[in-house]
Amino acid sequence: MKQKEGKNYESLVNTVSQIMGRDGTSRDQKLQQTCELLAENVEAFDWVGFYLVDPDSERELVLGPYVGEETDHTRIPFGKGICGQAAETNETFMVQDVSKEDNYLACSVQVEAEIVVPVKKDGEFVAELDIDSHKKDSMTEEHRKMLEKICKIVSPLF
Ligand code: SME
Repeated sequence: MKQKEGKNYESLVNTVSQIMGRDGTSRDQKLQQTCELLAENVEAFDWVGFYLVDPDSERELVLGPYVGEETDHTRIPFGKGICGQAAETNETFMVQDVSKEDNYLACSVQVEAEIVVPVKKDGEFVAELDIDSHKKDSMTEEHRKMLEKICKIVSPLF
């Protein structure tokens, strides 16, 4: 059973700051630890991962560190799916019922809700944090606020 959240969102944000300060830890290890922290502590989060802008093609996302089931979507063109749309708009995309979305890429049939939060460097889109939930209507404004703070904290890694 995951820890009860709410009052813990602030402590999760603080823990991500601590992860960023860890010496001798690579960028990918820090992103991986951030994914693990979120997946372990937030009830609604069943798949947590980062997609990074492919430095070679620039209009494509490449799967980075993640926690959860393996996904076929290791590369996603900008504009495709929830992830690709968030990459294009450079804005958070919160979906409470993925079955209502036309432009959606299924990672697993169990997924019912999803949130994608951009990571910006000097305002420019560089990566995104993608989170899936097996429960409809499970993404909240508190989740959004916490994840947007976390994406600001990890931004210097890019
Ligand atoms: N559902 C995402 C694809 C990525 S997987 O969820 C890991 C989308 O529609 O872009």
